[in-house]
Amino acid sequence: MRIIIALILLTAVNRSLNAIIRPEADSADKSAHPTSIPVTTDESWINEILMNGAVEEDMKETGELNPNYYPAQMAAKVVEHYLNTRYGSPSKLFLLHDVHKANAEDVADSGRKYQLEISMQEIIGNTTWTCSAEVLFPRGEQQRSPQVKASCEELLKINTTAQDEALYQQYKMNQSLLSVQHLPDSYGNIEPGMKPFWHLGAVASSFVMLNESTEDTKYNMAQVANVTQMATENDQLKFDYDVLLHDMVSQEIIHWKLLITWSPPEGVKVLQMTMLPRCFECEKPH
Ligand SMILES: *[C@@H]1O[C@H](CO)[C@@H](O)[C@H](O)[C@H]1NC(C)=O
Ligand SMILES: *[C@@H]1O[C@H](CO)[C@@H](O)[C@H](O)[C@H]1NC(C)=O
Ligand SMILES: *[C@@H]1O[C@H](CO)[C@@H](O)[C@H](O)[C@H]1NC(C)=O
Ligand SMILES: *[C@@H]1O[C@H](CO)[C@@H](O)[C@H](O)[C@H]1NC(C)=O
Ligand SMILES: *[C@@H]1O[C@H](CO)[C@@H](O)[C@H](O)[C@H]1NC(C)=O
Repeated sequence: MRIIIALILLTAVNRSLNAIIRPEADSADKSAHPTSIPVTTDESWINEILMNGAVEEDMKETGELNPNYYPAQMAAKVVEHYLNTRYGSPSKLFLLHDVHKANAEDVADSGRKYQLEISMQEIIGNTTWTCSAEVLFPRGEQQRSPQVKASCEELLKINTTAQDEALYQQYKMNQSLLSVQHLPDSYGNIEPGMKPFWHLGAVASSFVMLNESTEDTKYNMAQVANVTQMATENDQLKFDYDVLLHDMVSQEIIHWKLLITWSPPEGVKVLQMTMLPRCFECEKPH
């Protein structure tokens, strides 16, 4: 019975991912799409469900956890969102690479705490470092955001000041304001010049994903549906983003509208985040 449920789930995953990003092989005219981006969705945990049974059983497990198994991966994903909100930029984007060690404990009255040894990748410069982190999922009536502490000193030495400054100057000086849809397109490709805006969308989405994460979610940004630059205010570039986020647990695609500012000294700030109603169009970009 469990296997049947897991297989149905797996089919749902594939269908929903295919709706967003068609495999490379489908691309008839590659020359029109000069680069392809790494797809940041990972499905390895779903195999764990196939092997080990339903998610919920192990949600309550305490002590040493299997680092490859869902609860450890889910908690570690939250650290990725946290690092992006703190340190992300159009030229610096963190992605969970691997979980080495994980431990969970119930903390009386306050929630469940995960202690993690993980490695994080910075995908633009392609460097990987280890971090130790702590994620607390608060317990209570009200849904509250997880609290994260992370120590990744080496990661913070990555210096992208020069790239960020160049992009900032380019879009601050430009007379016309950027407006672009579908990053990546349905072939999984992004024009090289637009990649920083996909990265920036992923960083902005991390604010939502960090805030919305619980022990029953695992979010990835699926696509920037639309990014529109607004007039620069107080030396801050301003953007209106429509993003599609994918929860790998519920298989839901959720659509958020984010108003953000960015400058190299101030970093990324989210002024407004609004969840848009479910729209079936969103599940099939174009
Ligand atoms: C990133 O670096 C690793 C080793 O340092 C290498 O194996 C891998 O191919 C690189 N990936 C990309 C996309 O350059
Ligand atoms: C980053 O590099 C720039 C030069 O590109 C330098 O001026 C700046 O001090 C460096 N920042 C840090 C934190 O190392
Ligand atoms: C200015 O913006 C337009 C529209 O986004 C873009 O096509 C053009 O390449 C930009 N120019 C520079 C110098 O960045
Ligand atoms: C974060 O989520 C909570 C509910 O989970 C919500 O009340 C709060 O407004 C959110 N924060 C932001 C900045 O949207
Ligand atoms: C993109 O977003 C901007 C700002 O919200 C909006 O004016 C524009 O119509 C949107 N474009 C598309 C194609 O949805």
